[in-house]
Amino acid sequence: MSETKEQATLDLTKGVAASALTDKGMILGRVGDEEVVLVQSGTELFAIRAHCSHYRGPLVKGLVYGDTVRCPLHHACFSLRTGEALRAPALDPIACWRVEREGDRIFVREKLREARPAPISARQRPSSIVIVGGGAAGVAAAEMLRRQGYDGPLTLISADADPPVDRPNLSKDFLAGEAQDDWIPLWPNDFYVEKRIELVLGRRVVSIDPAQRTVHLDDGSDRPYGSLLLATGADPVRLTISGATDGQVHYLRSFADSRILVERAATARKVVVIGASFIGLEVAASLRARGLSVDVVAPDSTPLERVMGVEVGRFVRSLHEAQGVRFHLGQTVARVDGRDVTLSGGGRLDCDFLVAGVGVKPMSAIAEQAGLAMDRGIAVNEYLETSAPGIFAAGDVARWPDPHTGERIRVEHWVVAERQGQVAARNLLGGRERFDAVPFFWSQHYDVRINYIGHAERWDEVFIDGSLEALDCSVEYRRGGRTLAIATIGRDRQNLEAEARMERH
Ligand SMILES: Cc1cc2nc3c(=O)[nH]c(=O)nc-3n(C[C@H](O)[C@H](O)[C@H](O)COP(=O)(O)OP(=O)(O)OC[C@H]3O[C@@H](n4cnc5c(N)ncnc54)[C@H](O)[C@@H]3O)c2cc1C
Ligand code: FES
Repeated sequence: MSETKEQATLDLTKGVAASALTDKGMILGRVGDEEVVLVQSGTELFAIRAHCSHYRGPLVKGLVYGDTVRCPLHHACFSLRTGEALRAPALDPIACWRVEREGDRIFVREKLREARPAPISARQRPSSIVIVGGGAAGVAAAEMLRRQGYDGPLTLISADADPPVDRPNLSKDFLAGEAQDDWIPLWPNDFYVEKRIELVLGRRVVSIDPAQRTVHLDDGSDRPYGSLLLATGADPVRLTISGATDGQVHYLRSFADSRILVERAATARKVVVIGASFIGLEVAASLRARGLSVDVVAPDSTPLERVMGVEVGRFVRSLHEAQGVRFHLGQTVARVDGRDVTLSGGGRLDCDFLVAGVGVKPMSAIAEQAGLAMDRGIAVNEYLETSAPGIFAAGDVARWPDPHTGERIRVEHWVVAERQGQVAARNLLGGRERFDAVPFFWSQHYDVRINYIGHAERWDEVFIDGSLEALDCSVEYRRGGRTLAIATIGRDRQNLEAEARMERH
């Protein structure tokens, strides 16, 4: 999973010339057998582990911003002073070393002891906290609650049978056979025991009683809560396809779903993917990596056009075609008879099974039944509070007032869900932190990663700098002359800079 191939040879304990570091400069070296980056920000010097704790992204190619560094791959943010993972997707800290300047030389000395983050002054200590949802938002919130020193009862209830997993991996490395089973859980089971996070797995909350501050589970049991976080995410839209039998059309959301696909792929030769969405295309790429023949059927005229525009969509299509994926666009699956798939345009395809990736819908029914304000998802304010006292919502299920677009938006991005979980956790403890992060997501197609910062549902101009084919470009989505979002390929640092710029406006 690492994208860092560089080998650091410079021994930083022997000192480097101060002139080698310019403002915000970084030098990759080593201390003993560990790779370390020496960083200058303004007049201050820091030394940190060279690799991000998320997927080992090369921090030397990241962006130094004040006393933080941001990872070029998926925008995690670390404190240069303490190594704390300040913003997801990294949740674990990185090591830091002491730095000393002697004359015009800079030396990296001993490793510093892991600094405990200062807990926020807990203006509020809920008697207990229940989190509904064991996904990105829920697990990031649980971890942050403990990181902030909350020591009361903390329960995470998840309809998934597995402990929280690295969901984006389910359509990528894991499905392609490049990641083992044990890479997928976000943490080992011991983590939850050590942090005293009670995991209730394979159980669904069926209703909430806000007046009694209780949730009811599908096994008939009740759980009281002092404060509640709803992080129920989204569920794939299910299709009704005439002739298709149970188990013939697959969906991908959970680890269990991905394992079933791996199992089916083991004995299959041909698959039909319905939907040219991110998930549909990632599934197509992963199943091609397993040697299956893949046909993609979708009503759109260009894959991903609604989100990324026609230029990027065409380019992504060409990437898949170069790997042997066949597209049947402008049509849907009309009927399935055994192995035989009939398309609405009259064409026929043969396949062992089908996978549908045609969008998701927010899992908001329990909130709606409890009388919470809704807005195509659960409506939350800038602090991620719902309309009910003591109940917050975060992640794919929540629609929030985004200060950057000036609109209320709901997105389906891993990093946004985790960051919302982190902000909600601090606010559950009485913080008053606005959720104002600029939305970010990434998508992987073979060895091409697209990083996307901002949010553009509509635009009137697409400006491409560089070349998509050369895998070196930035694509700006503008409306009324204002840049709403930027997608980059091969320009990770530029994407980080765009994020920092958008944060300031
Ligand atoms: C295969 C796949 C690949 C993806 N790849 C990317 C990517 O590359 N980049 C990116 O930015 N995003 C990606 N995403 C999207 C990203 O995973 C989601 O945006 C993110 O998981 C949302 O987090 P969440 O916590 O809101 O919801 P989820 O992670 O979906 O978690 C929701 C949890 O709530 C539980 N739940 C739901 N209802 C109940 C209930 N009533 N009671 C108890 N538990 C309940 C579910 O079981 C689940 O555990 C991908 C998604 C999938 C499925
Ligand atoms: S590798 Fe650093 S954020 Fe993912």
